[in-house]
Amino acid sequence: SWNLSGWVDQMTSEIAAKVGGDRVVCGLSGGVDSTVAAVLTSRAVGDRLECIFVNNGLLRKDEARSVLDLYREKLKLKVHYVDASQTFLSRLEGVVEPERKRKIIGETFVRVFEAKAAEIGGAQWLLQGTLYPDVIESGFKGKGASVIKTHHNVGGLPDDIAFGLLEPLRDLFKDEVRAIGALMDVPGAILGRHPFPGPGLAVRCLGEVSPGRLDVLREADAIFAEEIVAAGLYDRMWQAFCVLLPVRTVGVMGDVRTYAEAVVLRAVHSQDGMTADWVRLSPELLDRVSRRICNEVEGVNRVVLDVTSKPPATIEWE
Ligand code: XMP
Repeated sequence: SWNLSGWVDQMTSEIAAKVGGDRVVCGLSGGVDSTVAAVLTSRAVGDRLECIFVNNGLLRKDEARSVLDLYREKLKLKVHYVDASQTFLSRLEGVVEPERKRKIIGETFVRVFEAKAAEIGGAQWLLQGTLYPDVIESGFKGKGASVIKTHHNVGGLPDDIAFGLLEPLRDLFKDEVRAIGALMDVPGAILGRHPFPGPGLAVRCLGEVSPGRLDVLREADAIFAEEIVAAGLYDRMWQAFCVLLPVRTVGVMGDVRTYAEAVVLRAVHSQDGMTADWVRLSPELLDRVSRRICNEVEGVNRVVLDVTSKPPATIEWE
């Protein structure tokens, strides 16, 4: 019968045997899969695992710092931090079309990751947090199925890469990965985290992805998240986040006319992200969030609520 700690022990020795005295690189995203894969592998190869965390300038408020702290202090991983914000943001300048955003971000990630891996040098293996559903899904690709969105994950690297591939989680489902993570003392802050798309805030900042608009979105999103946590609701939903619309509307602040952008609140329940139902948040909570965003975030004078399920909408707006 399937037993978690038995699986961990066996996989640890399999990785150790496969890798021998070689070195391994991996991309960390702050998400469950890459983190659990890295912690497992570090048990097998110690600091011959070189982790790379890329800041693409599209992360949430304080995310880079808090995730790095967790990785280094709590999980004792060897992490190389690359701040590539400028590269990503300059390539995104003037781009508004969602699939173009995704393509640019995916390509830039590969380039930045490869450059850092080359700089570290000497690694023979690439570790990826691929899960069973990812394996299944990519098996269906290219069979004429229409692409709704190109999903990018950290580590979506090309086939011709000069590494052997390590995918220790490829027979597992998400809940199994979470259980293994918990067994290996991966903090709840990572295991229970809401999903966050690889292209990050770029696909929540509708229209142009400028540094100023990203800051507005970050502040609004942090307020919504804070209130969701304070209300004890964070662990009871799939996702909650803000979207910034490229639409300006008229408002009044004191007795001064304002003409500023609108923020959407998006919160959904879901089992697997394939379908979703919007969360019936209380009017009191919505009121508090709306007031705080308009008062505390400069550049926003209107807050609206997304009451669409999936289908017909998708969870993200792009
Ligand atoms: P949609 O918007 O397609 O999202 O209903 C379903 C789930 O997937 C997440 N998502 C992504 N995750 N890269 C990712 O790693 C992406 O490009 C991406 N786009 C959407 C989304 O947050 C939701 O949980």
